[in-house]
Amino acid sequence: MDNDSDFTFCQATTVGSLSFKVTDRSGLKKVSNPTPGDARTSATNPQELKAGGKKPAARAKVPFEKGYSQMDWLKLTRMHPDLAGLKGQSNRRLISMNEVKEHRMEGSMWTVLKGRVYNLSPYMKFHPGGVDILMKAVGKDCTSLFNKYHAWVNAEFLLEKCLVGILDETR
Ligand code: HEM
Repeated sequence: MDNDSDFTFCQATTVGSLSFKVTDRSGLKKVSNPTPGDARTSATNPQELKAGGKKPAARAKVPFEKGYSQMDWLKLTRMHPDLAGLKGQSNRRLISMNEVKEHRMEGSMWTVLKGRVYNLSPYMKFHPGGVDILMKAVGKDCTSLFNKYHAWVNAEFLLEKCLVGILDETR
């Protein structure tokens, strides 16, 4: 954890149903700030676009609940101090598939996507495809489902703050 001595501002705030404390630390390095469009269109790597080699599956539109737009998600990722629920642990830790399977409870719903382990809990209500379909990813490797529906989505960026570790493929 960073040294807390340099923060300048601390306040409670709410996005959707999530309440959390915002701490503005003057010492923090500025992260790159891509436009929201970037989140949906990582389309830089033609290999990724071709992932699965098939046409994307038909997708049902799910209306947004107020406070759960993609902009709200971006705001939350910028302000929330610990979306992944790491409580100070490193997000470079190697995690076995067995450990991923254990995280299927509210607040701690893990998935594996392209070799990375994410806590999907905070993203659930922000997922444009809806909660029900995203529940299929919980406790599993969702890479092929993800690519089937939307290989072009930039999950590395969208879920950056939900990263809990790296899948240990040897265990
Ligand atoms: C795990 C990380 C995931 C992320 C970050 C994510 C993100 C997104 C995003 C940004 C969209 C909007 C895409 C667009 O409009 O072009 C979307 C739509 C959708 N996603 Fe996901 N998704 C994830 C996993 C999944 C999984 C595992 C499934 C299926 C089991 C799924 C099913 C869908 C569907 C059906 C839509 C269409 C909704 C619509 O057209 O309005 N997603 N997702």
